[in-house]
Amino acid sequence: MKTPVNQGENIRSLRAETATSDFTAELLERDSKVFFHQTLSSPVFNAVTKAEGAYIYDGEGKQYLDLHGNGVHTVGYNNPKVVVAIQKQIADTLTFAPRRFTNLPAVELAEKLAAIAPAGLNRVLFCPGGSEAIEMATMMAKLVTGKWKTLSYYGSFHGAGFQAVSIGADGHFREGLGPMMPGAVHLELPDYYRNPWGWTDQQQIDDEYLRQLKTQIEYNPEIAALITEPIFYNSTVPTRYYWEQVQAMCKAQGILLIFDEIYTAFGRTGKMFAAEHFVTPDIIVIGKGFGGGIVPFAGIIGREDLNVLEHKSIGHYTHEKNPLCAAVSKAVIDFVESENLVAHAQELGQYFRSGLEELQQKFELIGNISGLGLNLAVDLVTDRQSKTRATEAAQQIMGFCMNRGISFKLIQGNILNLKPALVITKAEVDFVIETLREGFVQFSS
Ligand SMILES: Cc1ncc(COP(=O)(O)O)c(C=O)c1O
Repeated sequence: MKTPVNQGENIRSLRAETATSDFTAELLERDSKVFFHQTLSSPVFNAVTKAEGAYIYDGEGKQYLDLHGNGVHTVGYNNPKVVVAIQKQIADTLTFAPRRFTNLPAVELAEKLAAIAPAGLNRVLFCPGGSEAIEMATMMAKLVTGKWKTLSYYGSFHGAGFQAVSIGADGHFREGLGPMMPGAVHLELPDYYRNPWGWTDQQQIDDEYLRQLKTQIEYNPEIAALITEPIFYNSTVPTRYYWEQVQAMCKAQGILLIFDEIYTAFGRTGKMFAAEHFVTPDIIVIGKGFGGGIVPFAGIIGREDLNVLEHKSIGHYTHEKNPLCAAVSKAVIDFVESENLVAHAQELGQYFRSGLEELQQKFELIGNISGLGLNLAVDLVTDRQSKTRATEAAQQIMGFCMNRGISFKLIQGNILNLKPALVITKAEVDFVIETLREGFVQFSS
């Protein structure tokens, strides 16, 4: 059986939606000739020549409001304050710190994270990318607990490294690789909309998924950590009750709870960390927007009492304390704070959601809206009874929006994944809603 893929869209068909100049056509050709082809990245359908604020621009200068951004565009592309910080760091002639030397930007960043993270999380480690950060957290959990298995959710994605792919369970990234990391145990994602029992009562649904979790834990006493996004990749928002129960079960069995906030940290969900909506985990993993869309940087923030591995190396990365990356990340956090982006994401997220809910009243195609803050998803269905995924309409609407200058990706073929830069304005949200409305009028059967 082919395992389901959590990302699904027909990239090639988008080519038709975006006219390509000679410059772009030639660049696509060169790209296709020089990069190893792999699905979801090469060949591509268009080129980007500029990225600024909430927008990207293609080879013809056409602008797209970017509701995808691979999640790096939290403070907007080429954020002027972040650019100044990186320029200053270069001017200060401190762009790298060899191992055994610390440096001021790295220490200041670490202290800042400890100050803004949920209470009790006050030690950090940095590394180049999210996948590595997930693996650092996992190795830390294994070494601290003395156990070797992991628990995570089917369909999740936690990075492209081998351990991270093993922890994630999106079949697309695993098929054909043979045995993955031993001891990676998986669970079903709580699904309030399309669960197999057709239930709608949240507590009943939570209790059934919690029962499954309890069974896995009972049969796998060697589990060191439960690794999960606090809000799932399809923007499903588990209840606080669910996370409280999960945390209680984990605590009872000496399992560390690790929240992958690579996508959600730094305001996206209307809180600085999505964990603040639910419970404080043992470790939070950060990445993507942490590097301001300028440098790759990621890390973990964990409890003081996990600081017991001084005889081991769990994150022996060349760029572990890179001062340039640290200066960028500190500027990102400063910008989130000085511009009140957390409150902005909360308010504008609510406004965006209300606009989507109005559309839902008019268009049967919209089966479900999920998410929190500026982390929204719209599940399109052929009819609301069967909840069959409306993949064709979703593809058409994505193409229509792309044509009108809005870029987003589809998840599972039918879910519009709407994640703008947090600097997006109310007028830009109105533009998205209006464009979607036109798309729904055109492609609702
Ligand atoms: C939730 C989540 N975790 C981890 C990762 C991996 O991050 P990176 O690509 O920086 O390794 C991603 C990347 O898409 C992600 O979305």
